[in-house]
Amino acid sequence: MKHAALLGTGSCLPQKVLTNNDLEKIVETSDEWITSRTGIHTRRIASRGEENFRLAARAAEKALEMADTRATEIELIIVATFSPHMMMPSTACFVQAEIGAENAFAYDVNAACSGFLYGLDLADKYIAARPDMKILLIGSETLSAHVDWSDRNTCILFGDGAGAVVLSGSDSRGVQASKLYSDGRLWNLLYMDSPESLNPDLVQKDRQGCHIQMSGRDVFKFAVRSMEDAVKKLLTQENLTVDDLALVIPHQANVRILNKLMERLGIPVDKVYINVDRYGNTSAASIPIALDEVNRQNGLQPGDTVLFCSFGGGFTWGALLMKW
Ligand code: UT7
Repeated sequence: MKHAALLGTGSCLPQKVLTNNDLEKIVETSDEWITSRTGIHTRRIASRGEENFRLAARAAEKALEMADTRATEIELIIVATFSPHMMMPSTACFVQAEIGAENAFAYDVNAACSGFLYGLDLADKYIAARPDMKILLIGSETLSAHVDWSDRNTCILFGDGAGAVVLSGSDSRGVQASKLYSDGRLWNLLYMDSPESLNPDLVQKDRQGCHIQMSGRDVFKFAVRSMEDAVKKLLTQENLTVDDLALVIPHQANVRILNKLMERLGIPVDKVYINVDRYGNTSAASIPIALDEVNRQNGLQPGDTVLFCSFGGGFTWGALLMKW
């Protein structure tokens, strides 16, 4: 059976850089606090002309160029996001129009920070059924539009950006296996409400509006435990150990979560790709941005096994193995 393998990768980050020192002027915080608790130094913030779908489209164009593929060859566009350009139509439809992928069908998936892994798993299923299909999968977020800039617990964490991959079927490369999970009972530990309803009966009076709300400590603990569990189950299922992994590309939430997770898994930190220090947490975009950086630095060799893992609101989480 053929699996979804990379033909090309691309990414696009907004121009504007927001430093920890800049944040000191917005909320009561310090560079020292943010660096020691999260490992984040800077994040990118979108400006006019850098809307979610435009970042996504620029990332997609770079991935298509690397894949030597025309936009009209793409049959499916999936955008993973929880900060869509509009509620309707999907950001994927905006991307389709922006890049001229007129032969594709297009839709969004929302699994918060796990959206890219959910999308990769989905793309792999399409390709199992139609191996010659070319799929454009993008993770793209403009979280700066949804952060409460007076809440120091959250506004220091998030950033904007997009990463894209072009996928098609391969016998020897691509997605090997995945384990995905969610637990909707824990939704209220990390969520963003809908814009206020115009039906008064449906207004959520007890919620705090359309911003990211988070119980940081609970999220931290659950993130470490759940990703550890998903990775261990996936490796056991595939008869692999951590020694078989060439590289781990995790969701870039924060350095402390990643250090703790890798310590528990017994994975040395030099096997883990980290760029959260530069971009903060870009949710569904974080893994494809990191993947594009690894790819453009020729960080992997044919035959290498790469592990992806993620955790996000829902809760959603999971792990996925890919053969390079
Ligand atoms: O994709 C998943 C997305 N979510 C995450 O990755 C978040 C996971 N959680 C975390 O990474 C951590 O919980 C945080 C970095 C958010 C917070 O670190 P913490 O060590 O859990 O701090 P805390 O929330 O327990 O707060 C400790 C203190 C509090 O002050 P008091 O009550 O002890 O006086 C906070 O008010 O730190 C204070 N604090 C801050 N101080 C300076 C909270 N945010 C800040 C801030 N600057 N930005």
